[in-house]
Amino acid sequence: MDHLDLRKQFQLNFDITFLNHGSFGACPIPVFEDYQHWQKKLEQEPVQFMVHQGPKVLNKSRETLAKYLDCDPMDMVYVPNPTTAMNIVIKSLPLKEGDEVLMTDQEYGAIDKVWDYYAERAGAKIVRQKIHLPIRSKEETIKQFWSGLSNKTKYVFLSQITSATALIYPAQEICQKAKELGLITIIDGAHVPGHIPLSLNEMQADIYTGTCHKWILSPKGSSFLYASPEMQQIIDPLIISWGYKSPTPSSSLFHDYFDYNGTKDISAYLTSPVALQFLEDYNWEERKQKCRLIQKHYYPIISKQLGGEVLCPLSDEYLGQISSSPIKTNDPVALQALLYHKYKIEIPVTTNGNHHFLRVSYQAYNSAQEIEYLLDCIKNIQQTTSYLS
Ligand SMILES: Cc1ncc(COP(=O)(O)O)c(C=O)c1O
Repeated sequence: MDHLDLRKQFQLNFDITFLNHGSFGACPIPVFEDYQHWQKKLEQEPVQFMVHQGPKVLNKSRETLAKYLDCDPMDMVYVPNPTTAMNIVIKSLPLKEGDEVLMTDQEYGAIDKVWDYYAERAGAKIVRQKIHLPIRSKEETIKQFWSGLSNKTKYVFLSQITSATALIYPAQEICQKAKELGLITIIDGAHVPGHIPLSLNEMQADIYTGTCHKWILSPKGSSFLYASPEMQQIIDPLIISWGYKSPTPSSSLFHDYFDYNGTKDISAYLTSPVALQFLEDYNWEERKQKCRLIQKHYYPIISKQLGGEVLCPLSDEYLGQISSSPIKTNDPVALQALLYHKYKIEIPVTTNGNHHFLRVSYQAYNSAQEIEYLLDCIKNIQQTTSYLS
């Protein structure tokens, strides 16, 4: 099956060159049909489904996802997105005045805000350790990260794949050292599941969140929160509902707190088995390898055309299926709008600090011709506008 046939499995508009799988993913038709199947079940028998059938199917779906993530299903709950997961966790932390939270200067904006909100209330300090770009070696990056450590550091927070700079960071090594230092580790793996290898048992993070709707190809609003058994003791429900002091508790308080928060549609959560089966049926591992090769080929070409350099060595250690090329632009918003409206390319212009990047996602439904087209459009924009210097 070539990329065009595969592209037909997705519902993406054929008029658009879609190079932004990273923002919200894309869901193939068989997975979307499974999603609608569960929505129909819910509408046909709302009471039976909400009360009896839904919770059973949810448990089955969780077991399948937990197996894929290599963790105990008892330690995992579904949430709509990583922002929700991080709100649950950060609100529950016993942050105290003077405590420090160590993270990089490349964390995701919305979650940065969650940290700021609760740290300001508690009088805790957020240490956003600068990581120099381009990355030269894993060892150097790890050393830079730990230079932000102090005797007040209590928590370590890290995106395993960053949003704006699209870099893979050595989360496992950082978790290991943090453990030795007695620090709590909280990993934002929004871009990780289905994208790069992940074993939560090996990672040994205290907290981990990831999405299913990005690289596992589930419908939007399907993500998970993993918490170690120790962390489950301190995690409060964000919404108090029937699971609090439940008259019929399950064997997990963590599940009781988060599985039911009032009436909601859990259909997106129920699609994990079909989504994971889709990845298997369509030889996704092989396709991902090819995508990475294309990224490694084009990342330096795109970066050079834009007058900059790649942010990391061209290795699987740092680079997956998304890459961010530095750009110099006087109007990032207008540039992104121009790419979409004039050239029909969906691609984000991302920002980290004072720096802007053109972030290319390359998923199995994409083709090298689409990247060539992007390159032509960049040249055209350089010749005809002042948006790219
Ligand atoms: C690194 C990272 N963390 C967290 C998120 C949050 O996702 P959401 O807005 O769905 O909560 C994203 C979204 O792309 C992300 O890139």
